[in-house]
Amino acid sequence: MEKFIVKGKTALSGRVKISGSKNSAVAILPAAVLTANTVQIDNLPDITDVRTMISILENLGVNIRRRGVDAVDLTPGSLSKVAPAYDLVKKMRASYYFMGSLLARFGQAEVPIPGGCDLGPRPIDQHLKGFSALGAKINIEHGMITLTAEKLTGARIYLDVVSIGATVNLMLAAAAAEGKTVLENVAKEPEIVDLANFLNAMGASIRGAGTDVIRIEGVKKFNSARHTVIPDRIEAGTFMLAAASTGGAVTVEDVIPKHLEAITAKLRETGAKVILAPETIRVEADTPLSPSDLKTFPYPGFPTDLQPPAMVLLTAAKGLSVVTENVFDGRFNHVDELKRMGAHIKVEGRTALIEGGYPLTGAPVTAPDLRSGAALIIAALAAEGDSEISAVDHVDRGYDHFEGKLISLGASINRVHDKGFENRAGNLD
Ligand code: EPU
Repeated sequence: MEKFIVKGKTALSGRVKISGSKNSAVAILPAAVLTANTVQIDNLPDITDVRTMISILENLGVNIRRRGVDAVDLTPGSLSKVAPAYDLVKKMRASYYFMGSLLARFGQAEVPIPGGCDLGPRPIDQHLKGFSALGAKINIEHGMITLTAEKLTGARIYLDVVSIGATVNLMLAAAAAEGKTVLENVAKEPEIVDLANFLNAMGASIRGAGTDVIRIEGVKKFNSARHTVIPDRIEAGTFMLAAASTGGAVTVEDVIPKHLEAITAKLRETGAKVILAPETIRVEADTPLSPSDLKTFPYPGFPTDLQPPAMVLLTAAKGLSVVTENVFDGRFNHVDELKRMGAHIKVEGRTALIEGGYPLTGAPVTAPDLRSGAALIIAALAAEGDSEISAVDHVDRGYDHFEGKLISLGASINRVHDKGFENRAGNLD
């Protein structure tokens, strides 16, 4: 494992280019196996999760040609297995998208049950209910989910909870099912729209992505396609919050401002200045911040993935802020570490009460997961004195050169190898 030594009291300033979306990329890569032809994918983020996903594809027998750190050509014609390797699959939860894509291509998939993680329980009942409605037989034994279908048939499926994962998996399977599928109460995230655009470019017929109802007319054949992954709105939001939390002035470049409306509104509520242009957003925060309440919701609500870094911002706003986490049961892992840095936070169930205005002080802390890790790095930049943040490998999973981008904005961060964390298991964001 690796750790960062971060110098505190650094107001970030400058411009930073935002990479392609992690959560789009990890859905689009497994979707590529629907075709036997070559697909070209551009604007991939250079992160561990994308490298793992490409290794899974390679291990399945997909022909891979790298065109640089952010571009790859995949030819799944040579694909020879329907069971992704456990050693790779266990590294990332999104590998369960091979359930949908292999089922669509071969009528068969064998994927290990995704493990637990630090965000609380994460059931997959909606994925399985949907596969079953499309005609798949499901067998769960010895930690493995086996899906088989002689023929997938379109169906009307209502999701009991709005789930990104279930929406992705069912879009993948239904794209190749015979006849019409109607998916109701689905996720509306921009990453769902991006996946639909990619599948449609391959020949699928998917309408309604980005609304509550997706209508899919199944097709028999998928073709070659070229696709550019959308910008990562969570990476952009993280830098916007980092700018405001450190009292800095940062422009995020290559973003889609429409995808960042909830975070823009929240930053303005706290008194930060947010200036929008067609593909950039500038955040300036040189005046004292005001407290603000925040509730996480599926898109277009405030994203749960930005709740940890937003909490750091609220520690700087004098007065009481209330944060309510509505998406995951246990996404307050960063709270105990922030308290070690001097934050005044009390958690009651899904609610955190933040008494802001007490200056943070540098401390040794541990990144519990991807987004909490990013939050702790921002807290360390805002704090008085130096901090050591262990287990930053979590951050490498989802942020493309996070410390390099922060350093370009004036941060002082040193990455060192941390022998004390050698045996820590990876977690599955
Ligand atoms: N849920 C169910 N049953 C299901 C599926 C989900 O009850 O069958 C519940 C979950 O337990 C959770 C809620 O529905 O309470 C939403 O879960 P969702 O399925 O939408 O989450 P996910 O697909 O597992 C994705 C992102 C997460 C992000 C969440 C919420 C990817 C690869 N992951 O997870 O990203 O937090 O949506 O927006 O897209 C991250 O990037 O750090 C990360 C964790």
